[in-house]
Amino acid sequence: MKRIHLTQELAYNGLTVEKAIANRRSQRGFTGETMPLVELSHLLYYSSGITDKRHGLRAAPSAGATYPIEVYAIVNNIEGLAKGTYHYLVSSHELELLREGDFGNEMSRAALQERMFKQANVIVALSAVFQRTQQRYRERAQRYICFEAGHIAQNTYLIATSLGLGACAIGAFYDNEFNRLLGLDGRNESVLYIMAVGKI
Ligand SMILES: Cc1cc2nc3c(=O)[nH]c(=O)nc-3n(C[C@H](O)[C@H](O)[C@H](O)COP(=O)(O)O)c2cc1C
Repeated sequence: MKRIHLTQELAYNGLTVEKAIANRRSQRGFTGETMPLVELSHLLYYSSGITDKRHGLRAAPSAGATYPIEVYAIVNNIEGLAKGTYHYLVSSHELELLREGDFGNEMSRAALQERMFKQANVIVALSAVFQRTQQRYRERAQRYICFEAGHIAQNTYLIATSLGLGACAIGAFYDNEFNRLLGLDGRNESVLYIMAVGKI
């Protein structure tokens, strides 16, 4: 499958954490301007990438470093990337193309948020592979997994704000439809949380 190597090198010093927190608002309208690939790369790396290579630890905390969350990007308008669904390969900081195509209509039906899904440059979908955390934490895993999606989502909001992009968390979607879009079985792995990100 086609892989796109990403880079973290962005010649831009972002906002302080305090400014990013203070400026963060959920943005639901996007301009339609193309987003450079390096911004998507930055967004993925600083929300869930490996920041400590020696120990394999990541930007967001994880219960027992079990890392149950997988990250997908549904690309609408990113420079140099075909429209389609991609899986973020955390260990190599690459995107793997899953399915090429325009999924704006399919996503709108799956979440009843037509404008946001069609205008956003990228939709970031966070799924969970439940077993990774369940095998260590049993019934407590359910809540840990939700917390972890929240950590990554907040990182996404803040790094998007720091880059001058807009982001909006989306909890209102049909699980089955989104799982089908990404080829997930909904039992071992299921979508938990979605974010629209784009130029504002
Ligand atoms: C768990 C969760 C689910 C959300 N789901 C949606 C959603 O489906 N659609 C939407 O437009 N906004 C959604 N939001 C964004 C909230 O509406 C937004 O955070 C709230 O209005 C406060 O505004 P702010 O984020 O600009 O501070 C969601 C936020 C959270 C935390």
